[in-house]
Amino acid sequence: PEQERAALEELAVRIAVEAGRLVRDERPRAVDVHRTKSTDLDVVTLMDTRSEALVRRRLAEARPDDGVLGEEEGVTGGTSGLTWVVDPIDGTVNYLYDLPAYAVSIAVVVGDPTRPGAWSPVAGAVVAPRTGEVFSARAGGGARLRRSDPAGDHADEAPARLRVSDVRDLAGVLLATGFAYDRQVREDQARVVADLLPRVRDVRRLGAAALDLCHVAAGRVDAYYEVGTHAWDVAAGALVVAEAGGVVTGLGADDPPSETMVVAGGPAAHATVRAEVERLLRRG
Ligand code: IPD
Repeated sequence: PEQERAALEELAVRIAVEAGRLVRDERPRAVDVHRTKSTDLDVVTLMDTRSEALVRRRLAEARPDDGVLGEEEGVTGGTSGLTWVVDPIDGTVNYLYDLPAYAVSIAVVVGDPTRPGAWSPVAGAVVAPRTGEVFSARAGGGARLRRSDPAGDHADEAPARLRVSDVRDLAGVLLATGFAYDRQVREDQARVVADLLPRVRDVRRLGAAALDLCHVAAGRVDAYYEVGTHAWDVAAGALVVAEAGGVVTGLGADDPPSETMVVAGGPAAHATVRAEVERLLRRG
């Protein structure tokens, strides 16, 4: 029911604001790479680990029966049928360099978020602590942006409803994308970008998938695509886009050419960009 989804959204906001404050305020002057994951480019800082631990603690207090899937610690089962999908710092490389485009992303989903196409988001929040922006949404209840009080625990402003842009032509599309941590995969991604760049308005590579999606929702970019994202990068942001009137594909098992090719945009821009990227990937 709507009331329960609203409560889940507020819980996601509250915890993401608190974790965002932790990573921002306790960022060491020189952030060390704690370890690397899939490749040498895929870094984890100690703050990723601390942020996820805080989120898990708060979720265990508030929702002990729910499962949790976190980027750093993996999956912890629950019994309620709901699972929280957590990216403790999305945009870790930006964080490493003290670029402000990083966020804490928290979504709650039904189904199994470890299997493409087997889950769907119910509510979520994406909090960018350096800008104070708090994006959130709940299924059927719209998407919102407010600003958090930099000193306080809670989002403190009346929320503004988000709406995607209505750009149709590729030539007018401000296009966001992201690149994988795998150098080999990047060779294909470079070819796709090289083909698109002369034909769109311009290309942005912000470095945080959750924020790319929220920017689509806010009409700050017209579309976003990326190959190789994970559920924790996109679960909250995809709901924010959908609830802002946009279309997101690539989360389902049957979405060609890869279940991890996420495309988001207003309905027209989404269709245009998806067709182009699919054509270019097939050609590769
Ligand atoms: C990454 C960022 C990046 C995107 C990668 C993601 P992380 O998330 O969102 O922009 O290109 O695909 O993995 O590792 O910083 O949480």
